Amino acid sequence: MTSARVAQTFARHLPSYDTEARAQRLIAATLFQALEPVTPRHPRLLEAGHGTGFLTRDLLALQPQALWLNDLSAPLPDLQYPAPPQVLAGDIAHLPLPLELDLIASASMLQWLPEPEALIRRFCAVLRPGGVIALSGFGPGNFPELAQMGLPAGAPSYRDANALAAALPKGMEILWARDATITLTFASAQGLFGHLRATGVNGAQGGQMAPSALKSLMARMNLGGNLTLTYCPSYLLARKPGRVRAARGKEWA
Ligand SMILES: C[S@@+](CC[C@H](N)C(=O)[O-])C[C@H]1O[C@@H](n2cnc3c(N)ncnc32)[C@H](O)[C@@H]1O
Repeated sequence: MTSARVAQTFARHLPSYDTEARAQRLIAATLFQALEPVTPRHPRLLEAGHGTGFLTRDLLALQPQALWLNDLSAPLPDLQYPAPPQVLAGDIAHLPLPLELDLIASASMLQWLPEPEALIRRFCAVLRPGGVIALSGFGPGNFPELAQMGLPAGAPSYRDANALAAALPKGMEILWARDATITLTFASAQGLFGHLRATGVNGAQGGQMAPSALKSLMARMNLGGNLTLTYCPSYLLARKPGRVRAARGKEWA
């Protein structure tokens, strides 16, 4: 899937994303809870793939001294910014990155990149000593229900926490690496596919099926009663070695 196609898919689903993306909301909250205690105070901060701002909202509580916000297609989230953020619009894989960052955060975005490992290495290169990357993607087992139905993976780069960690340059300290599952339940296949469409999380897969094939798939799925959709988020927090500038309330060595 090209980045233009990803941009198109998300731009189309933005209005419904905020209310439908319950799993991503939870993922952003989980990532923030993990990163908050280990992030230097008043960070120079980059968020990649901000979308409608689930994570951005929380990141503002860190009172960043400088904030760069990136997305391929989403407009700047409508939030109360203490100072105007610097907008880095476009494909993060090809944009120049700001230097000397204390925190780079990204929730539910890495799976869209053809090579998330290359981006992770670039992120680590622009961190200050003591700086932290806080990332989430999705593991290769994402949406097992759709795989069982013979549908191909909706995003190009599903990686579990170990695979994300394996991309770290030597010397980065892994603070947290975890795989999890979030299971949503739907009363019908229509509800489940409606959720996929409203969030754009399965890329263009639903749209690539012939309507008749989709209809018969839904009929088969509906025979089973209540339906589930299992997200498999993967999380990685890692710190660049070296002295931390200033930590929350205390100096770290
Ligand atoms: C599933 S949404 C997640 C949004 C938000 N981080 C959240 O937690 O809800 C993925 C976002 O990543 C953006 N995205 C996808 N590929 C990207 C890329 N190569 N560069 C920048 N943003 C990208 C999409 O436009 C979309 O807004």
